[in-house]
Amino acid sequence: MIEWSQNQIRAFRKTLLDWYDAHGRDLPWRHDHAPYHVWVSEIMLQQTQVNTVIPYYDRFMAQFPTVNALADAPEAQLMKAWEGLGYYSRARNLQKAAKQIVYERDGQWPQTAEGLRELAGIGPYTAGAIASIAFNEPVPAVDGNAFRVFARLLEIDLDIAKPQTRPVFEQIIGRIMSPSRPGDFNQAVMDLGASYMAAKNPDSAHSPVKEFDQAYLDGVEGQYPVKSKKPRPVKVAYYGLVIRHGDQFLMQKRPSDGLLANFWTFPLIAEDDVLALSETPELVTDEERLTLLEQLVKQDFGLTVHVVPIGGKPVKHTFTHRQWVISLLSADLPANTDLSFFPGEWLSIEALQKIALPKVQAKLFTRIR
Ligand code: ADE
Repeated sequence: MIEWSQNQIRAFRKTLLDWYDAHGRDLPWRHDHAPYHVWVSEIMLQQTQVNTVIPYYDRFMAQFPTVNALADAPEAQLMKAWEGLGYYSRARNLQKAAKQIVYERDGQWPQTAEGLRELAGIGPYTAGAIASIAFNEPVPAVDGNAFRVFARLLEIDLDIAKPQTRPVFEQIIGRIMSPSRPGDFNQAVMDLGASYMAAKNPDSAHSPVKEFDQAYLDGVEGQYPVKSKKPRPVKVAYYGLVIRHGDQFLMQKRPSDGLLANFWTFPLIAEDDVLALSETPELVTDEERLTLLEQLVKQDFGLTVHVVPIGGKPVKHTFTHRQWVISLLSADLPANTDLSFFPGEWLSIEALQKIALPKVQAKLFTRIR
């Protein structure tokens, strides 16, 4: 790792901010510095790319123009507005934090990164982003962009996958960042990280800060940032039951905790639960699996079904730590079946479209069409 002199730091700040003033992206959440606007955009941008976020952000602001409107929005409406963005706990936390501000803090925002951390869903990065952009606090906002940009500029060899690395970067960036324009400095780093210093196909040779980019100057930018591999998501196999009656499907409401809490999906039955019915799970044939599955559906839900594989490849969907691999089966069930042991109901596609559908269920619908 290299260290810059005070002169280099000043020169870097000026070069970066001059570039940002001339070439920074014109994004809807940059039109003012209202904390509500900065906050909502930063939450959306946590796991989603800028181009995807823009239309969601615009619609969200039209629908929930103030923190009060968000605090009082019906949850179903909020989930619908978030549909397709994924990581729905972000939307739930957004509303939780809106309620904190409106009902516990008399509508007043915490104005420092430290204070912002007390709101639901706000971690160190988001707190730094809001505090610097909306409240001009000179604190860094260290996201993937900032890790990559500064790791390359200074050839920082620390593993960014390790939690103890973040405070080190915060300290380094805190010394370098502009004390008078912290929000612009942080956003300039984001724009640099999304363009000349991108993770894929960077263009360091034309970067406005190439003279400061030690990894580029040494021809080793591909080695930065250092990041150890995360374990792969664990695969979980499910059977998905497509049970249709006229234009309605039997849909299951997921439990109120865990993945996709409270969302509607086809009834999903874990392959492990099916195999657990056998004393010799390793010897179960494909045909026997289906019989066991029918048994389990009877036992757990009181439903008598005959299942038939739909064929084609299983539908895959990856969450942070899990990958669901869903094999679809069709089954018949009379419409007047007693559903008292089943956590769900018959719903038409039209009815489902009014409720937020998680991406994995949208994929399942696409598969059966
Ligand atoms: N990514 C995260 N926050 C951002 C912002 N404010 N502008 C552009 N990209 C971002």
